Amino acid sequence: MRGRVRVAVIGCGFYAENHLQSWHHLRPEGADLAAVCDVDAHKAKSAGARYGVPYYTDADAMLRAEKPDLVDIVTRHETHRPLAELAISHGIAVIVQKPFASTLTDCMAIVAAAHKAEVWLAVHENFRFQAPMRAVRKAIAAGMIGQPSWARILFRTGFDVYAAQPYFLHEPNLVIADVGIHVMDLARAIMGEVARLSCETQHRRPGLLGEDTATMLLRHENGAVSVVECTYQAQRDPDPFPQTLMEIEGPDGTLIVHPGYRMSVIRQGTTTVQDISSPLLPWTAEPWHASQEGAFAACAHFLDCFGRGVAAETSGEDNLRTFALVDAAYRAAASHNAEVPFAWRPA
Ligand SMILES: NC(=O)c1ccc[n+]([C@@H]2O[C@H](COP(=O)([O-])OP(=O)(O)OC[C@H]3O[C@@H](n4cnc5c(N)ncnc54)[C@H](O)[C@@H]3O)[C@@H](O)[C@H]2O)c1
Repeated sequence: MRGRVRVAVIGCGFYAENHLQSWHHLRPEGADLAAVCDVDAHKAKSAGARYGVPYYTDADAMLRAEKPDLVDIVTRHETHRPLAELAISHGIAVIVQKPFASTLTDCMAIVAAAHKAEVWLAVHENFRFQAPMRAVRKAIAAGMIGQPSWARILFRTGFDVYAAQPYFLHEPNLVIADVGIHVMDLARAIMGEVARLSCETQHRRPGLLGEDTATMLLRHENGAVSVVECTYQAQRDPDPFPQTLMEIEGPDGTLIVHPGYRMSVIRQGTTTVQDISSPLLPWTAEPWHASQEGAFAACAHFLDCFGRGVAAETSGEDNLRTFALVDAAYRAAASHNAEVPFAWRPA
C-alpha cells in the first residue's frame, strides 16, 4: 500500500472544479492536492488560491517542480494526448478526462506509451460510478432480473448545455463524443461488450456544427440488444438533466429507471420501487449533483486503485473499448450502411 498521494490537476476550467473539490474532499482517504495548472493564468491563479496550492501555466514546469504521484488531466480532448504523453515521459501516473483523446489512434498511442513506460493510466469515465448507476449494476449482479437480454438507455434533455460549455457550438463531433460516450460505456458495463452497432445522427438545433441527437442500435457479444439514445434537443417536463434513464429486460424481470432516479423492478407480477438518487454532498448542487457525485466516486476509485497498484475499472486499456464505440458510431452514421435496398414509387 502507498502512503499519501500527491495529485496535480491540469486544466482549471468548467468541469475541473468537480475534480478539485473531489481531491480536496478525498484528503482523509490519502489525497493531497499538490498543484494546479492552466494556460490561462487567471484560471490557474484563482484555482491555486481557492485550494491553497501552487499554480502554474506550464504543465512541464509543474511536473518538474512538484513531482506529483498522479496527474489529473481535465482539459479538452485536443490536448489529452500531448499532456498524457508529457506526464508519461516523466514517469507519472495519469488520469485523463473523457473523451480519452480526439481519435482512436491517439487513444491507442497513449495506452501504448503508458504500457511501455509502465505508468498507471486511467480514464475519468464517471457515469458508471454515479450512485444510481451503481445501484442498477448491483441489482443486475444480484440476479434481480436474470442476465439482461434487451435494454434502452437514454440521455434526453433540453437543458442549456451550451451555457457552461459554449465550445459545444463549434464541435464537429458533439453529442456522441460528449455524452453518448458515457451512455455507451454504461451499455458496455451493464449489457456486455459490443459486437456491432448502427447509428443515425441528426442536427436538430439550427447553427450547430456537430450532431445534437444520436440513436444507436447495439448488438452485444452475448446476444443482447440495446438501444442507446442521446440528445441535447428534447423538450421534457420535468427535464431530467443530467439523469440517464433506462429500461432493462431479462428472463426473470424488468428494471426501469424513471425520472427522479426511481428504480422499479418488475418480477412475477410484483413491482418494487427504490429511490436510487445521488446523495447531495456538501459541495454539490442540483441539477449537477448526480454528475458531481459520480466524479467524486470516480476519483475515490482511482485513488484506491492507484494506492493498491491495481488497474482502475476504467483503465486506459478498458476505455479503448468505449472510445471504439464512439468511433464506430460516427463511422456508421457517415456510411449509412444499413440502407433499405428496396424503394417503390407509384408510377
Ligand atoms: N465527465 C463529465 O461528466 C464531464 C462533464 C463536463 C466536461 N467533461 C470533460 O472535461 C474536459 C474539460 O471540459 P471543460 O468543459 O471543463 O472545458 P473548459 O474549456 O472549461 O476547460 C479546459 C481548461 O483547460 C485549459 N487548458 C487547455 N490547454 C491546456 C494546457 N496545455 N495546459 C493547461 N491547461 C490547458 C483551458 O485554458 C481551460 O481552462 C473535457 O474533456 C470534457 O469532455 C466531462
